[in-house]
Amino acid sequence: MMSQDDLKRAVAKAAIEYVPADCIVGVGTGSTANFFIDELAKIRHKIRGAVASSEASAKRLQGHGIEVLSLNEAGDLPVYVDGADEITRHMHMVKGGGGALTREKIVAAASKKFICVCDASKLVDVLGKFPLPVEVIPMARSSVARQLAALGGQPKLREGYTTDNGNIILDVHGLQIMNPVELESALDHIAGVVTNGLFARRAADVLLLGTPEGVKTMTA
Ligand code: 5RP
Repeated sequence: MMSQDDLKRAVAKAAIEYVPADCIVGVGTGSTANFFIDELAKIRHKIRGAVASSEASAKRLQGHGIEVLSLNEAGDLPVYVDGADEITRHMHMVKGGGGALTREKIVAAASKKFICVCDASKLVDVLGKFPLPVEVIPMARSSVARQLAALGGQPKLREGYTTDNGNIILDVHGLQIMNPVELESALDHIAGVVTNGLFARRAADVLLLGTPEGVKTMTA
């Protein structure tokens, strides 16, 4: 029987097909992205380098001898490969379980194509069962929490956690997200919110879904 890691490895391998020769690749964060980094190492002589969405991914890339560039140096990227905590058939996602949502959203926004790599457990009909991560400037913690509660969620501080940007994360439980594009915008308008984990305005372009029957390729 295939384990969840086998499924993640299979989608990471499949994502390599989307990496053009001689390019700079946008690289996500998390266990599935880590498998992708390991696959990228095998073709490292065919690419110019990578832009990482976290310190952890940058370290792993460098450990494989892949050059890590800043987004400012690299400019726009042809492709961004990352996992998700939840994804719908419309390619809307909840991300940020690993806490890297802000840099992920920045690198994704600068990339022409977003390739999402997931095992089958991540595909859902409605987003929100996975608590929605919201990165917040520390001084705004309670006021943002109150506004998130007013929107119907139960925000919980991610204890003992600081993002790569020096901020905190509130994980919002109990949401049933029927309109991800609207909620993403509404959350971004709360003063003190840096980024929220809804990736709906800029959805994935391709989903590579790892199933026991093989990798399924889906588009919106
Ligand atoms: C990190 C993320 C990850 O993409 C998400 O948490 C999925 O991780 P994994 O591949 O380990 O399941 O958004 O901030």
